[in-house]
Amino acid sequence: MPKEQAMRQQASKSRNLSYNGDFYDLIFQNSPRYKEQNQDIEFWLEMAKCYGPSILELACGTGRISAPLGAQGFDVTGIDLSASMIAKAQKKSQKVQWLEGDVRDFSLQKTFSLITFPYDTFTHLHQLSDIKACLRCIKQHLKPDGHFVIDFKNPSYVFNTVNSPHQRDVYSIFQDPSSSRKVTVNRECEYEAAEQLYHRTLLFSWENRSEVVREALTLRIFFPKEIEFILLENGFKILQKFGNYQQEPFKGNSSHHILVCQSMAN
Ligand SMILES: C[S@@+](CC[C@H](N)C(=O)[O-])C[C@H]1O[C@@H](n2cnc3c(N)ncnc32)[C@H](O)[C@@H]1O
Repeated sequence: MPKEQAMRQQASKSRNLSYNGDFYDLIFQNSPRYKEQNQDIEFWLEMAKCYGPSILELACGTGRISAPLGAQGFDVTGIDLSASMIAKAQKKSQKVQWLEGDVRDFSLQKTFSLITFPYDTFTHLHQLSDIKACLRCIKQHLKPDGHFVIDFKNPSYVFNTVNSPHQRDVYSIFQDPSSSRKVTVNRECEYEAAEQLYHRTLLFSWENRSEVVREALTLRIFFPKEIEFILLENGFKILQKFGNYQQEPFKGNSSHHILVCQSMAN
């Protein structure tokens, strides 16, 4: 079996609940971070007004952001690795073109005036080869004067003020739609500083059931200057840096590190 196909199968197996379309929305909507994170929809709408009208959202998930952008009349395409997330997105909007695919390897025969990578999801790419492949695909799909906007959490802010990198907490509580049982999702985190890898395990437990389902996800932490350097080295210039969804300038203690980029001529 080709390596890429094997990786996809592995990814979909290990993401049964976390990146299952129905569960993802329930986990997210019932988590303490829902209100803060959902403010990004307004931010992406502003970006769409500035840099649209043709928009590609990378790792679009269940369409939390792309669906409202499509509803506003933008020409939106969303791509995601998980068939289950895409299936859920399709139910939310028929105005968006939803595609199952890998952000490291896609070819759409179309260029976009805006490509977005929201919600710190670039951190799913761990290896330099994955990062370079993804940035190469982005460059190929950007119009010559198009914009690429990418949203990271600021690692210093997250580690120092919000989450201890080593902790266990309640991540979400909701009702399982299939059994009506209460599901509690606990989160365990561990930061492997030498590799800049953030290991997150979600533990799913159901009311009156002894079984606990554990799902691990590893995210690559990108410090601000590091990602700026990676972008420059891969042919992007940085036009603006925001520190939050209200578009305030990026500072060391900002909650987010949001970069507005353009492709440099080859
Ligand atoms: C945290 S969710 C974010 C979804 C959506 N952007 C949002 O803001 O709600 C991360 C998503 O990244 C997707 N993903 C992870 N690696 C990917 C890859 N290599 N290519 C495409 N999608 C990927 C997952 O399937 C999942 O839907």
